[in-house]
Amino acid sequence: MKLIIHGGFFSESSTSLEIKHAKQNALKEIAGDSYEYLKTHTAVETVVYAVSLLENNLLFNAGLGSQIQSDGKIRMSSSIHDGNSKKFSGVINVQNIQNPIRLAELLMQEDDRVLGAEGANKYAAEKNIPLYNPELPQRRKEYEEKVKSLGLGTVGCVALDGEGKIAAATSTGGKGFELVGRISDSATAAGNFANNFAGVSCTGVGEDIVSVALATKIVTRISDGFSMEKAFEKSFFELKEIDGFAGAICIEKDGSIHHQDSHPYMVWASCDEGIIECFQ
Ligand code: GLY
Repeated sequence: MKLIIHGGFFSESSTSLEIKHAKQNALKEIAGDSYEYLKTHTAVETVVYAVSLLENNLLFNAGLGSQIQSDGKIRMSSSIHDGNSKKFSGVINVQNIQNPIRLAELLMQEDDRVLGAEGANKYAAEKNIPLYNPELPQRRKEYEEKVKSLGLGTVGCVALDGEGKIAAATSTGGKGFELVGRISDSATAAGNFANNFAGVSCTGVGEDIVSVALATKIVTRISDGFSMEKAFEKSFFELKEIDGFAGAICIEKDGSIHHQDSHPYMVWASCDEGIIECFQ
C-alpha cells in the first residue's frame, strides 16, 4: 500500500516559516491518518477520505479556505478517478458546501457523473448535503486587497491499495479572482487521472495543466511503457514549452512514488509502508 498527497505550491517570498511548518505538520498528519484508513479501505475510498481532510484544513485552497472569485463568491471544483473501474466523477464550480469531494463521490453512482454550477448545487440539495460557508476572513482580506495568488493551493491524493488498485482525487478553490464561469483543471482528466497502471493529481495553473493535459499524458505514457521518470520528464518538458506552472504527484502499479514541479515548490507528503516523508 502506498499513498501520496499534495497541498499545492508554497512561496518562500510570500509565506512565513510558521506557515511552512504548519503545512508540513498538517500534510504529515493527513498522510499518516489516510494511510491507516487505507489499511481497511479501497484506494478510491481512501483518496476521497484524504482529500476531505485536506478540504477541511484552512491552510489549503480547497473546501474551507477556498479563494474568492472576481464577483466575491467562492466556487469549488473536485474530482475522483477510480483507476480500477475507470469511472471519473466530479463537480465544477459548486458553492456553499463543505466537501466538494464528497459530492464527487456520490456522483460515482450516477449515469451523469460530472455536474457544474447550479446543477451541482441542486444535486447537493437533493442529497441533503448541508449548506456551509467555506469563506475565511483572511481570504476576504486578500480579495479586498486584490491579491492574486494563482491557484497555488489545490489539494490531491493518489493511493494504491492492498489489492493493487489505484485511484486519484483532486480538489480546489480555483486560482482566485477568476472570471465567473472559469473551469478549473481539477475536475478534468487533465488535472486528475488514474488507470490500472498509475494515478496522477496535479496542482498549479489550471490553464497550463489543461493545455498540456498533464495528468492524462503522464499516466498514458506510463501505460504505454515509459518509465515513470521518463513519463514525467517528457510531460514536464512539454509544460515548459508553454512556460507552464504545475506540479504533479504519482503512484505506479509497482508502488513507485514520484512527484515533480515546474517551479519551486509543491508541498507534499507520502506514506510508504508506514514511513512518512514530507517536503522540506
Ligand atoms: N489548479 C487549480 C486551478 O487552476 O483552478
